Amino acid sequence: MLRVAVLISGGGSNLQSLIDYSRSNSDAGYEITSVIADRPAGGLEKAEKAGIPAHLLDRKKGMESLADDIHRLIYGQVDYIVLAGFLSILDSLFIEKWNKRIINIHPALLPDFGGRGMYGMNVHRAVLASGAKESGCTVHYVDNGIDTGEIINQMSLEIDQNWSAEQLQKEVLKLEHILLPQTLQLLCDRGSET
Ligand code: GRF
Repeated sequence: MLRVAVLISGGGSNLQSLIDYSRSNSDAGYEITSVIADRPAGGLEKAEKAGIPAHLLDRKKGMESLADDIHRLIYGQVDYIVLAGFLSILDSLFIEKWNKRIINIHPALLPDFGGRGMYGMNVHRAVLASGAKESGCTVHYVDNGIDTGEIINQMSLEIDQNWSAEQLQKEVLKLEHILLPQTLQLLCDRGSET
């Protein structure tokens, strides 16, 4: 069973989907053993409700110190880190230490609509402004760039031209809640084959 730390900055609906999947599938290959937030985040309450140790860190101490604190909390305790709406950038030493063991969910079809500033509603506004016919979400490994790591899995949807950015976000989020647990399970299955 893979032990997973989930890093969050917001409401934690993706965190909830990971918890729900792992608890409702008897063949789930992972369990969430730790939740860490870089700011007071609604998702911390979801973790507490689920009985998962939840930690609130202070991002204002700087990127290096944040990464050190996270490493200290989970070193030797977890196998994978999932960034589920985590807004801080992790420093390169941390990413090296956890190479190929950190994944992120992004609310668009990378490599398009990723990079600096492409988070939250900015992503969906940019997608609509581009006239794209489809959008979706991507799970990828985290490397030293922003949203540039190897893509593991994607799900897409057709954009209704009448949708507002908020509606697009809502539709994409529904897919995220399917894609993220599925992809984590895929990694567990792959790991158990080797
Ligand atoms: C999701 O859209 C995720 O893709 C993005 O931030 C949002 C987090 O939502 N990185 P939630 O906190 O999981 O509800």
